[in-house]
Amino acid sequence: MQVVKTVAGVRELVAAWRRQGLTVGLVPTMGYLHEGHASLVRRALSECDRVVVSVFVNPTQFGPGEDLQSYPRDPAHDQALLEGLGAHALFYPAVEEMYLPGACTWVNVEGLTEGLCGKTRPTHFRGVCTVVTKLFNIVAPDRAYFGQKDAQQLAVVRRMVRDLNMNLEVVGCPIVREADGLAKSSRNTYLSPQERTAACVLSRALSAAQERIKAGERDASAIVAGMRRVIEAEPLARIDYVEAVDALTLAPVTRIEGEVLFAMAVYIGKTRLIDNFIASPAAS
Ligand code: PAF
Repeated sequence: MQVVKTVAGVRELVAAWRRQGLTVGLVPTMGYLHEGHASLVRRALSECDRVVVSVFVNPTQFGPGEDLQSYPRDPAHDQALLEGLGAHALFYPAVEEMYLPGACTWVNVEGLTEGLCGKTRPTHFRGVCTVVTKLFNIVAPDRAYFGQKDAQQLAVVRRMVRDLNMNLEVVGCPIVREADGLAKSSRNTYLSPQERTAACVLSRALSAAQERIKAGERDASAIVAGMRRVIEAEPLARIDYVEAVDALTLAPVTRIEGEVLFAMAVYIGKTRLIDNFIASPAAS
């Protein structure tokens, strides 16, 4: 696996692959890689001739007072994991390589970024869309792989690619969970043992909702209310939001008629965790 730290270096590498007629997949990450990221890399390897994984803790997607400084980092572990998986290149740029002095251009997807996580993180998706656009421009992949755990991010990136005629396919990949149901996340590392146990309340709330849908419930508001009750019973949990929205537009819905995203953000102590699932009318 080649470790490349410069934009020019990645472009050279990808150009050489292109001359050989090879297809290229990109897995954008912020590092501290876990099984969730590994599943994206495996999927990319199964669908593309060459796979570039970017590891970049993107400062522009963190708001004031968020965890940019403390965000977990372990470059040696990331590199070893990617070598083991068989990724072809690790793009590991410094902040100065990605953002030139005086950079003042942003990519902003309106509407879809205003609800859900956008309410408490108003500049987050502008940072995500800007860095993802830059990565797409640098690597020029045929496909890019994102986890369904960040459901709003996936919907926003899909919309951005559609609206701006970006020439690639966005591939969404299933959530990977711990044995007890907690969705894998680099931020799980912030949890104390007691909080780690409490964090299972997120997946418990999702399972309760899925059970009700299986039993025929189509009232999305009633399902959300039930999810809230499960979470509120956990003393270490504090709800940021629990919502039912259209899976494509992210507009709020009250009934399951098309594909509905049930999404939540919940603080367990100081750690904000997200989780979700998609329900469709034919789910029972
Ligand atoms: O999901 C993430 O890890 C980040 O938001 C991403 C897509 C790598 C952009 O920095």
